[in-house]
Amino acid sequence: MNDTIALLKRRRSAPPANITTPGPTQAEIETLLTIASRVPDHGKLAPWRFITFEGAARDRAGAIALALKLADKPDLDEDAQALETKRFSHAPLVIAVVSRAAPHVKIPEWEQTLSAAAACMNLVIATNALGYVAGWVTEWCAYDARFREAIGLAEHERVVGFVHIGSPRVVMEDRPRPALSDIVTAFAP
Ligand SMILES: Cc1cc2nc3c(=O)[nH]c(=O)nc-3n(C[C@H](O)[C@H](O)[C@H](O)COP(=O)(O)O)c2cc1C
Repeated sequence: MNDTIALLKRRRSAPPANITTPGPTQAEIETLLTIASRVPDHGKLAPWRFITFEGAARDRAGAIALALKLADKPDLDEDAQALETKRFSHAPLVIAVVSRAAPHVKIPEWEQTLSAAAACMNLVIATNALGYVAGWVTEWCAYDARFREAIGLAEHERVVGFVHIGSPRVVMEDRPRPALSDIVTAFAP
């Protein structure tokens, strides 16, 4: 079996809390971002961009998440506070994949969003190909306009995913996969 097929057949996600050091080097991060931006893109609009969170920047993102949660719920318990504080600090690298989809004379916004999802998946695959693991999550932060603004998103921009990247803390279990018989039909001749 060729290497790419073998990789795609075994790839699975790791939950962010199960991702730890080591993470990719700076040269590897550049490779990841280059591959993430090499995706089908109707109209060559590059309707996506990336924000990297490394080192103390991860803690700052967690502090923003905590401050917003506390603003909504001042009596947030300690465990919930710790969860927010650590939200972006488990893995050594988090990359936010941001959709810049916007109205366009020719290219539907939907297709721009699909291209951004493709960028996110390319990032996940490339991460695995380099020998690391990835966890693609959104969680509440992606859907909170205050958080999006705090990390620098414009009003029309959306978080496709926060991709947490590093090495597995534990042996990763696979999950059940859909049977092809449930999801594939042949169009009648
Ligand atoms: C757009 C998108 C958002 C997701 N957001 C979350 C999330 O917020 N929390 C979560 O536990 N899983 C989330 N997931 C699912 C994880 O990525 C999950 O671990 C993954 O589907 C496992 O499948 P895999 O092993 O084939 O990668 C999301 C998946 C997608 C595609």
